[in-house]
Amino acid sequence: MSDRVARYKAKREEERAAAAVHFEEEENIDDNEIVESKCIPCTSEYQYEPERIIKVFQTCFQDMFEDQTELNQLVQSVKGDLYNRDYAAAFGEERKRDAYVIRWSPARALAYSSLFSQLKEVRELIYDFSDEKKDLDVLAVGGGAGSELVALNSIYCFAKEAYPNTEKKITVTLVDIADWSLVVDKITDFTKKYWLYKTATYKPEFVNHDILKPGVSFVNRDLITLLFTTNELFAEDRTEATKFLQRLSSECKSGALLLIAESAGSFSHIQVGKKKFPLTFLIDTILCGRPGSDNGAWTIIDGNDSVWYRTPKVQYDLKLENMRFFYRLYRKR
Ligand SMILES: C[S@@+](CC[C@H](N)C(=O)[O-])C[C@H]1O[C@@H](n2cnc3c(N)ncnc32)[C@H](O)[C@@H]1O
Repeated sequence: MSDRVARYKAKREEERAAAAVHFEEEENIDDNEIVESKCIPCTSEYQYEPERIIKVFQTCFQDMFEDQTELNQLVQSVKGDLYNRDYAAAFGEERKRDAYVIRWSPARALAYSSLFSQLKEVRELIYDFSDEKKDLDVLAVGGGAGSELVALNSIYCFAKEAYPNTEKKITVTLVDIADWSLVVDKITDFTKKYWLYKTATYKPEFVNHDILKPGVSFVNRDLITLLFTTNELFAEDRTEATKFLQRLSSECKSGALLLIAESAGSFSHIQVGKKKFPLTFLIDTILCGRPGSDNGAWTIIDGNDSVWYRTPKVQYDLKLENMRFFYRLYRKR
């Protein structure tokens, strides 16, 4: 093996490990390690309470909880596949996709619900019922496993209670390389049945697509989320991931919001010339321009390099993990 091939392989291995890290890391965080001042609240006055959020998963995937032994085996198997970055194996079967959802999505849905509520610009977008004609268009990249959808629903449906007859539409497009269509259907049916008075204006849509390939339009989106997905995109194909961010910059409308979150500390470093840069720095540079230049397509309007979400004490058959994550909210100029 030549030196160049060996170096390439070692670098890829480093990226694989970095991308897989958050699955291990989340499990090692215990309550005592959490510094209160760096926590976002576990819930807010702008959303349904955590018990109702957890209930979505308990109800939609009720059958999965019947055989705990099988469930544990499925979860372990998915975890092994994810560690090896074998997404085809992890998400290739319906039972494994469901196991992933009930194991990891509930804690994320709780965290995202709180995060969306705390971010004034995001919350106001969801809460704006002042103009009946101003529809809301959200795109969740890598959002097939349901956490973004449940989090958005928990705020939108709560806010809509005060406007039961509004004509304002909400379109949520969840684009994902794995086929989560049945998961999205289950959550959508639940939401229409239990959380909404009139459902005609509520339009979630699942799109099974590789976001690194053209085919999804960004033009009319009010909010795009990239939650716990950016690292994976860069590990898959750095050049195409960069082009994807550049497409966001050229296509998104002025005022659009882009929210990126990732497990804190899991971001890999990328070699540019002789220097290594954290991926966060590169993302900021691609989106906002060189530091100090202030001439990029986006501006950072909120963010935190390391924030905790401590899951509240709610009844759930599986572990609900605390999370420590990085987030940035950008606005298109
Ligand atoms: C770690 S999971 C995060 C799921 C969800 N966003 C959350 O935070 O709970 C990453 C997701 O990104 C999806 N994904 C990975 N590469 C993708 C690609 N190239 N295009 C679209 N989705 C992708 C995976 O299938 C998976 O659902």
